[in-house]
Amino acid sequence: MLQPGVSILKTIIEPFRIKSVEPLRQTTVEERSRLVAGVGYNLFLLRANDILIDLLTDSGTSAMSTEQWAGMMRGDESYAGSESYFRLKSAAGSLMGFKHVIPAHQGRAAERILFSVLCKPGHIVPNNTHFDTTRANVEFTGAQAVDLLKTEARDTQAQLPFKGDMDTQALERLIAEHGRERIPLVMLTVTNNSGGGQPVSMSNIEQVRQITRRHGIPLYLDACRFAENAWFIHDREPGYAGWSPRDIAHKMFSLSDGCTFSAKKDAFANIGGLLCSNDDRLAELEKNLLILTEGFPTYGGLAGRDLEAIAVGLVEILDPHYLAYRIASTAYLGRHIADHGVPIVEPPGGHAIYIDAARMLPHIPRHQFPAQALAVELYRHAGIRSVEIGSVMFGEHAQNELLRLAIPRRVYTQSHIDYVVEAILEVNAMKDRLRGYEIVSQPPVLRHFSCTFSPLA
Ligand code: F0G
Repeated sequence: MLQPGVSILKTIIEPFRIKSVEPLRQTTVEERSRLVAGVGYNLFLLRANDILIDLLTDSGTSAMSTEQWAGMMRGDESYAGSESYFRLKSAAGSLMGFKHVIPAHQGRAAERILFSVLCKPGHIVPNNTHFDTTRANVEFTGAQAVDLLKTEARDTQAQLPFKGDMDTQALERLIAEHGRERIPLVMLTVTNNSGGGQPVSMSNIEQVRQITRRHGIPLYLDACRFAENAWFIHDREPGYAGWSPRDIAHKMFSLSDGCTFSAKKDAFANIGGLLCSNDDRLAELEKNLLILTEGFPTYGGLAGRDLEAIAVGLVEILDPHYLAYRIASTAYLGRHIADHGVPIVEPPGGHAIYIDAARMLPHIPRHQFPAQALAVELYRHAGIRSVEIGSVMFGEHAQNELLRLAIPRRVYTQSHIDYVVEAILEVNAMKDRLRGYEIVSQPPVLRHFSCTFSPLA
């Protein structure tokens, strides 16, 4: 039986101490009101220096360890055949078991290359839920991105252990209706980011594996948060309590034909991604595209030192003490606001807490972006940056109106999170005063990054 805690005390502490610090800048409510109006109420357009606690994303925002920084110094910056690449290939290869490990500058670069090689107009790509860039990269090839989440998982209040599971019956129906030839791959996003940071069970991966194998369709993992998913399996799925996170992760990967991976999440790296598979012919095509825009296949758009940071991070992320702390500290934020009346996606996710803004602010209709209204108010009130995951981000594909509070890895302490809890409860107490927004300008794709809003009276 794996024992995550070394002590018998109940308090879960941050399993690290702090050696280097970054000061936080305090601002006033008046300053923040002016700043947020000045950027058209789009928090992506703020300067980071004007933010106190930044929960915009857990991507690329991790604090690196002393071992990672030591690895950075060892980085081999050779254009071709860098030793750092071989260290990364060995770390990723032994964990994931894939023959081909192709570095890329981040997850979406791996996605773009994979979909460019596999997809064309008329194709359909099923996923439990596509993340925004994943959906955009599928659609950019002319293929259609389809989300196949179970109906019961769409209820934000349902307490299910594996809300990220794919609806396997819907997958069978989709294949029967459109034919295997139109489906170049099936993807599973672990954990399901857009669906609340919810895990996918091992048994669901196995079922999807059986279906895809029967039809000869490759199965890929969008593995951004594979370690957090592994911890949920360890915690919640019968039969896995005695398994190490590494063994669980290894099994997850072994059930797939390949993966895209953003090392900016579960590898504690500030930049980087991977595209992995066992298919020689595919890897050849992918490397040809890689050279065109990312770089030679032994660096893929990264510096040698970045490859080192990822190699070390892939080992550190699977430390059971770290994962126990990570999942417990995210749940701490979730429980402290939910138990005081703020509706969140239940149960708490791995990397983030998602407030159900439509439920919290029923007086603001969906087309007036309730989660955006909440994001703006949380910034104005307390200097906290969060992100809308709803109709601004996904337009008509949005399942819910969520506000995501993503927690950077190893960055904030419990007192930072206590401040966030207090701020959210204060905003909740004055929620009736919040008003909706309308969009005044927007780009043709991925509008949430740069559109501007105007408050409604
Ligand atoms: N897939 C998922 C599930 C993601 O969450 C992300 C990024 C990507 C792919 C793309 O990876 O950023 O390295 O290009 N998610 C970040 C977020 C941006 O804030 O959730 P990337």
